[in-house]
Amino acid sequence: MAGLQGDMAGLESALWREDFDALVTRATAIADHPMVPPAEAQAIAGVLGPDMGAFKQHDTRVHDLAVRIGELATVGDLEGVLTTRADLVEGCVACHVAFRARIRAGLR
Ligand code: HEC
Repeated sequence: MAGLQGDMAGLESALWREDFDALVTRATAIADHPMVPPAEAQAIAGVLGPDMGAFKQHDTRVHDLAVRIGELATVGDLEGVLTTRADLVEGCVACHVAFRARIRAGLR
């Protein structure tokens, strides 16, 4: 997740510079980054049980939004990147709010 944080900062930096190549690179890195390391996914499934489906939905949503940002950056749609980036941040935080505390407590 620390890598994700860096890529989000990079995305922002690219936004200020209207550097579309860098936007594509960062968005792709976020999309390709596993939100949860595969080794951890099993343990998280154990903690969340039937809620694992909802957790995965957050994961998929964030992934799809990152892909979309890459597509928008490719065609130079800065406005689109901006609004979709807001949705992305919301998606990151939504999963944290819904699950982080529970997972932290459960994995310990
Ligand atoms: C599907 C759920 C989910 C999504 C989506 C998600 N996260 Fe997380 N994130 C977590 C969980 C769970 C933790 C806590 C991990 C732990 O404590 O072991 C976490 C922790 C973090 C941390 C704290 C540092 C760390 O390594 O524990 C950062 C930074 C972070 N996430 C960034 C992001 C960013 C940026 C995004 C969006 C691009 C994002 N996360 C999307 C579940 C998610």
